[in-house]
Amino acid sequence: MEYKTIKIKREGVSSLNNFLREVFGSFPKSDMYFEVEQNALLLYLRQLNMVDFRKRVQAFIAGTDYQLAREILQEVLHKIESIGSYGLKGRKRLFVGYNRERKVRDRQRKEIERGDYFYASDNDFSPLNNELPMEFANRIIVGDSEEVLKKFPDNCVDLIFTSPPYNFGLDYESHKDGIEWEKYFDKLFAILKECIRVLKYGGRIVINVQPLFSDYIPIHHIISNFFMQNKLIWKGEIIWEKHNYNCKYTAWGSWKSPSNPYLKYTWEFLEVFCKGSLKHEGDPRNADISGEEFKKWVYAKWEIPPERDMEKYGHPAMFPKELAERVIKLFSYKGDVVLDPFNGVGTTTAVAKRLGRIYIGIDISEEYCRKAEERVRMTPQENPLFENV
Ligand SMILES: C[S@@+](CC[C@H](N)C(=O)[O-])C[C@H]1O[C@@H](n2cnc3c(N)ncnc32)[C@H](O)[C@@H]1O
Repeated sequence: MEYKTIKIKREGVSSLNNFLREVFGSFPKSDMYFEVEQNALLLYLRQLNMVDFRKRVQAFIAGTDYQLAREILQEVLHKIESIGSYGLKGRKRLFVGYNRERKVRDRQRKEIERGDYFYASDNDFSPLNNELPMEFANRIIVGDSEEVLKKFPDNCVDLIFTSPPYNFGLDYESHKDGIEWEKYFDKLFAILKECIRVLKYGGRIVINVQPLFSDYIPIHHIISNFFMQNKLIWKGEIIWEKHNYNCKYTAWGSWKSPSNPYLKYTWEFLEVFCKGSLKHEGDPRNADISGEEFKKWVYAKWEIPPERDMEKYGHPAMFPKELAERVIKLFSYKGDVVLDPFNGVGTTTAVAKRLGRIYIGIDISEEYCRKAEERVRMTPQENPLFENV
């Protein structure tokens, strides 16, 4: 039978053999038993009702004046209580075998049989990457991204971070937000197709999406589906928790009734996709994410308050600088090319410049681009990599 072993080293423990038999002897061997070595107590655990066990051990601690016995029993309790992984069966904690059915045997062979990211494995992306032509480096470009990007060569951008218009009916300066869904997706996909083409092999596209919950349009799923059909690999999804409690309980649904409860969301999504490979090549010396940041940010729920300066910039749908900073540092190296094809007033480009990336921002609004230029100009670069950037 399999047991979990606990060892408590203490000189003189062998003198407590009879006392310990009294304490633990009433538990069936199929739950636990003990052995005493010269200077150690060994406990073998399979399962225990912790309430009964604790009561019994505490009663013995209270009932003896022998200091060594009290200390050892206290340590026994402490060690067993601090076992973090166990299963539960009825009122007993199971210390062994509780996760047996969840373990996958021969995992590697099964992964090979299943096939990795099957929806993207037959892509025909070229692994040859191109230099970004200098005329596009560190530029804010006014225009329709579909047209502008057509001038770019294939495979020349390391990271695309963007949030497209969501067709909510917002008051943008030049773009009409709130058109037929089919037309909206046709245009969005035409731009995203260009994005995929200009993305390097091993490059990433991170797209921030807020679904239109009130219309039951899961835009984040529709976009993800588009990327998968176009053979990108889904790397994951980040929840951007904004704690934005601005929606009333009964605004759209029922109250205290299952007839039509309306689900509320205080967060948005970031869908992360890769072209050709999950691995992005780069010089490790150009990684600028700290250990602390990495540890925190790979947990894919990011609590970041929404942008507060939208009025100041005169833009209705900005994301905060911290969101851009995390994406850029987690998914790109210093010196990489970072593109935002819906750049608005330039959050991505300002942060990319500050972090020593080569930035490109495209927006259809001349006014937003002017503000983005100004923002980039006012943003100093930290740790410049290139003298002339
Ligand atoms: C959600 S906003 C992006 C805001 C940006 N993340 C920021 O923080 O400022 C979407 C932007 O897409 C722009 N846009 C809409 N259609 C476009 C197109 N065809 N080409 C380029 N930009 C477009 C809009 O003008 C708007 O500024």
